[in-house]
Amino acid sequence: MLYSEKVMDHFAHPRNVGELPDANAVGTVGNPKCGDIMQMMLKIENDVIVDVKFKTFGCGAAIATSSMATELVKGATIQEALALTNKAVMEALDGLPAVKVHCSVLAEQAIRAAISDYYRRQGIDPVPIVGELEDHDEEVPED
Ligand code: FES
Repeated sequence: MLYSEKVMDHFAHPRNVGELPDANAVGTVGNPKCGDIMQMMLKIENDVIVDVKFKTFGCGAAIATSSMATELVKGATIQEALALTNKAVMEALDGLPAVKVHCSVLAEQAIRAAISDYYRRQGIDPVPIVGELEDHDEEVPED
């Protein structure tokens, strides 16, 4: 089986999918090579992510990783969310095939982009806190 049961479950039944009208942090990222796009919407109160929704126009692994990432950051502090790596999301999904690792990077980046947006809306430079949002340079392997 190429995909773990958890990946299949989060792909078939993604958690926290949709819109978050009162979001105060929105991040959209894309991978120019595969063309997939992911948007994370967070509602942050007192440094805690109290609600989260996502929309992913992308492959099944991108949907599963964004779903799992929302589960992992819901109720987390900003600092905890910033510490969430794509590796941790993959581990929570019991792994991804090597050709799909870049999809999980999108989820990590979407959360960082949303938190950057949160600071920017308050006139705070996010770079010292969140770091540069580097362009996605991970290769999408050709098969
Ligand atoms: Fe592009 Fe999965 S995010 S193929």
